Amino acid sequence: MSAATYPNYSPGLEGVIGGISTISEIISETSSLVYRGYDVHDLASKGCFEETAHLLIYGHLPNQAELDALKKTLANEREVPEQVYTAMKQMPKNAHPMDLTKAGFVAYAPFDPDYAKPATDDAANVAKAIRILAKASTIVGNGHRIRQGLEPLKPKAEHTIAQNFLYLMSGQEPDAKTAHVLDSSLTLYAEHGYNASTFACRVTVSTLSDLFSGVASGIGTLRGPLHGGANEEAMRMLQEIGAPDKAEAWIHDALTNKKKIMGFGHREYKKRDPRAIYMTKVAKELSAEKGQTNWSEIADILEHVMETEKNIYPNVDFPAAYAYYVLGIPIDLYTPIFVIARVSGWSTHMIEQLRNNRLIRPNCIYEGPTSATWVPISER
Ligand code: SDX
Repeated sequence: MSAATYPNYSPGLEGVIGGISTISEIISETSSLVYRGYDVHDLASKGCFEETAHLLIYGHLPNQAELDALKKTLANEREVPEQVYTAMKQMPKNAHPMDLTKAGFVAYAPFDPDYAKPATDDAANVAKAIRILAKASTIVGNGHRIRQGLEPLKPKAEHTIAQNFLYLMSGQEPDAKTAHVLDSSLTLYAEHGYNASTFACRVTVSTLSDLFSGVASGIGTLRGPLHGGANEEAMRMLQEIGAPDKAEAWIHDALTNKKKIMGFGHREYKKRDPRAIYMTKVAKELSAEKGQTNWSEIADILEHVMETEKNIYPNVDFPAAYAYYVLGIPIDLYTPIFVIARVSGWSTHMIEQLRNNRLIRPNCIYEGPTSATWVPISER
């Protein structure tokens, strides 16, 4: 039977309203995205990621004193207990950094000072959200060291979240340009309504489970290439194409063979993803500045063919991929960077869910066999 038989069924829940939220709005017709009323382009170009995180978690943009206080708390909460690193060190060296990140959060949870507080404790949830935000860049950055057999570094109090990740990842003081590009990408990645990973987080805490369990669900859900994993796959695709003069033939061939082009398309945006508009500008400027225009030239050709042939546009993962590459970030850290940003949105959604909770439990239509007759095992 087809989906059309069931008027209330929408495959992939497309178009289904899953809840009411005050956190962000996607306006497909105008290709815009607002976090609590603020245009994401303003937030990315005029503010820093910490301001955006404050806006999401506390519901308003911070004044200077509030921002200073948040940065101080983040600096104080950045470290994780040694046992978390010990747990991460048990994983094989080929573990994907998303799994290391998930392991890091799972190992940290019981050390959290509010671990034993009930899921309905709002103040504890907000405090957990800040600690999750503070520790994410440390877990990802030092996770990268651990898988190389290096010892974790101690985070520096004066660093921003973007700088903390870059410093731990490379062991070197990040330059201002690199930190700025990463910082604005974190703002763009921070929040996006009822996307799959955020929905997974909300489902998890709707059982009155805790924020750390929600983060583990979120990381697991984000990892797939139809979601956050697309930024890694998009870069591998650009590498496979290799050079601008190969791009046109490659994309035509891929489309003929019904391949999904990674970093293109979106369930919500039928035109351009506003984050991709912003990130493309950043990525192109960066590429020109660093004299590495190979990827942006290939990207232009892919975008042109996808638009003219399929009316499909890049999403944020596409320009983010080659911007991160030009910044020298290893490809398999791209989705973990998404985690560093998105924990702010995930936590905010989980807090919102728990403030007005009802168990999330949809229906499904049974199409399996009926009236089966029990046969003893010896006769099967
Ligand atoms: C993120 O939801 C969010 O908000 C997510 C996110 C966030 O911030 O949280 O924005 C982050 O996950 C971005 C998306 C990253 N994924 C990719 O880049 C993977 C490639 N994109 C696609 O597979 C796809 O576009 C999705 C998964 C993003 C959306 O899938 P839908 O809404 O289920 O659409 P679909 O797969 O059913 O496609 C509809 C049509 C199909 O053609 P027809 O069969 O109708 O002829 O569009 C075509 C598809 O073949 N299509 C593509 C395509 N995306 C859609 N064709 C080729 N390449 C693509 N990328």
